[in-house]
Amino acid sequence: MKARASKPIRLSRQEKELIDRAAAASKNAHAPYSRFKVGAALQVESGQVFVGCNVENASYGATVCAERNAVAQAVVNGHKKFKRIAIMTATSPPAPPCGLCRQVLVEFCDELPILLANPRGEVVRAKLSKLIPQPFCGKSL
Ligand code: THU
Repeated sequence: MKARASKPIRLSRQEKELIDRAAAASKNAHAPYSRFKVGAALQVESGQVFVGCNVENASYGATVCAERNAVAQAVVNGHKKFKRIAIMTATSPPAPPCGLCRQVLVEFCDELPILLANPRGEVVRAKLSKLIPQPFCGKSL
């Protein structure tokens, strides 16, 4: 039986633009080992957008994910309050962030809207609080 396409969701102009930024970032991914390109676009409270792509390494453990690179870009530019993040992968359905990236995002916000997207135009809405319930965070220390 053919899988039923999920209902298309309505996106604001800002959301569409954020997804486009994530798509553009994914094109710069350095992923010669996995061939799995990821792009992330993180919008901060001021409206500015910081992007990241995955940067792999021959020493595989030195790889950094797209989301964590976007967070680093925001933080190094003085932004720690995030509004939303878009993540672009080529899979269907679009892939959610890995556990490490969830942990890094939750350091800055427990409630972050996430847009998971792929080049086919499929978009899934997610929430950080659902992806990482009961996080280990500053309050846990
Ligand atoms: N990757 C990301 O960039 N973000 C994630 O949340 C999941 C995984 C990257 C790491 C590696 O370069 C490739 O995808 C395959 O795991």
